[in-house]
Amino acid sequence: MTGRIAVLPPQVADQIAAGEVVERPASVVKELIENALDAGARAIRVEIEDGGKSLIRVSDDGEGMGRADAELALSRHATSKIRDATDLIGVGTFGFRGEALPAIASVSRFELDTSPDGRSGTRIRAVGGKREPPEDAVRQQGTTVTVRALFFNTPARRKFLRAQATETRAVVEALTVLALTRPDVAFTLTSDDRVLSDVRPAARPLDRIHALWGGGLADTLLPIEHREGPLEVQGFAQRPAQAKPAGRKGYVFVRGRPIRDPFILRAAEAGYRSTIAPGDRPSLILFLDLPGDAVDVNVHPAKLEVRFRDKFFVEKVVEQAVRRALGPLAAAAPLGVGGQVLGARDSWTGVGGTMPAGVPQELFATEPLAPGTQHLAPLLQVFDTYILFQTDSGVAIVDQHSAHERVLYEGVMRQLTGDGAPAQRLLLPLTLEFAAPELEAIEAHRELLRRVGYEVEPFSGRTVVVHTVPNPHPRFDAARCLQELVADLAGGRFGGLANRLERFGATFACRAAIKAGQHLEPEELRELVVRLLTATLPAHDVHGRPTIVQLPKDELERRFGRA
Ligand SMILES: Nc1ncnc2c1ncn2[C@@H]1O[C@H](COP(=O)(O)OP(=O)(O)OP(=O)(O)O)[C@@H](O)[C@H]1O
Ligand SMILES: [Mg+2]
Repeated sequence: MTGRIAVLPPQVADQIAAGEVVERPASVVKELIENALDAGARAIRVEIEDGGKSLIRVSDDGEGMGRADAELALSRHATSKIRDATDLIGVGTFGFRGEALPAIASVSRFELDTSPDGRSGTRIRAVGGKREPPEDAVRQQGTTVTVRALFFNTPARRKFLRAQATETRAVVEALTVLALTRPDVAFTLTSDDRVLSDVRPAARPLDRIHALWGGGLADTLLPIEHREGPLEVQGFAQRPAQAKPAGRKGYVFVRGRPIRDPFILRAAEAGYRSTIAPGDRPSLILFLDLPGDAVDVNVHPAKLEVRFRDKFFVEKVVEQAVRRALGPLAAAAPLGVGGQVLGARDSWTGVGGTMPAGVPQELFATEPLAPGTQHLAPLLQVFDTYILFQTDSGVAIVDQHSAHERVLYEGVMRQLTGDGAPAQRLLLPLTLEFAAPELEAIEAHRELLRRVGYEVEPFSGRTVVVHTVPNPHPRFDAARCLQELVADLAGGRFGGLANRLERFGATFACRAAIKAGQHLEPEELRELVVRLLTATLPAHDVHGRPTIVQLPKDELERRFGRA
């Protein structure tokens, strides 16, 4: 009896391998652009027809191939990018498996035109992976790959292709991702002769983002720049106030490779803690760089995942990187004027000159002000709600409630994790009445309430006695704050915040903060603004709303025809 095991013919093997690499037109575009980038292209042109189902063509001005290489390029495991397994460690090219071209060729009508010097050229055709003899071709230095009738010989796969618009969108996305990794390379994409994307070489990643999506996104981004040990994190995090529940952009690149990693994105979102409304998802573009031996890139058939040697470290550093990016006042939302959001470049440094140490009165004190904090130009309270003042680059407008909420929140979080706040013992204890669920909430939060300054004891029935109260500012209404706070706790508000402590801190800060509509004395305005400007995350309140917006001087000049 003859054996039952047979080695598959190479064409069949290629088709099976193609199943892993080539899922849809966008995967072909991805592989071909990666090859062009690996070949040192400065300009890459992509054309598709019918969402790439009938035609995909990728042309580059890279190094091209001589005839022998061009013939080999269509064989499996033929690659110029690594020579042995050790080269895989820290591999700097997108490709390294020698799989993509044979896989694509095995499921299409395939044509490769290439020249290493702009004089001699080679054309190689293959139909369903069956190669024809090479021909001479005339072309400039570089390579053009044309893929027609994708999956014509694998009807089951072809059936899985989606509508033209869907496939086109996936192609745009594939190109966009790679265009982000290399702002220095020009990319164009035409679909049935319509130009869908045309980005010129750019000096900075932000310019590339601007070219791809316009200022609507670019102007809402804050730069990330952080290094810890072997890991460098760069990129962009969207201002919390501009994050929306849907439609965010989230990209992660590791050593220049685009990957899909929900954990890293989640870690980055964790960096937004206490600055963003629950449910809002900020746009994030993250470039991670770490030594080649700290990450394995060969773990996914389409190379869309990598494995980190120390995943927890990476996630921790990403979270910190985002947190730091949101820190400075530069994170403050710029004011939209005439429906258009202004640039992100305005500087907040040096608001006025420096002030001698010591502030006469600690009006909003939970701790003394740091010496050397800024002296402020005259402040103006308007509508008993907003505070206006001049900065180096424009006019700043602070929302007094949001600002105070942020200041209190930072102080309260220190108290909740430390010894607690200084409380004021009442000569005549307060007695307050609560509903049953509120009494439960008080019982459940007794210790946290004590740490912010409320010593509360059950009395009888629905009544509780309050022995001590916090004193965060002179206009503080201790009874009202406790009632509102307890109602919030019982009603489960602030559900989106990470943990119980933060939830409690945010609720307390919100209820204890001065309200809108409260008139403040000049000294109070000043201290509130100084405290805000010296906070750790000054630009946002705990709901993700801005605490401060700025009207840039440029904009005033433009409006008044001075620019
Ligand atoms: N646009 C191009 N310009 C120059 N050489 C190319 C181009 N495309 C492919 N090649 C050559 O053909 C070889 C095979 O390409 P292919 O994409 O199949 O494999 P790879 O890029 O080496 O690895 P991978 O399968 O991981 O992409 C490459 O190693 C490269 O030498
Ligand atoms: Mg390749």
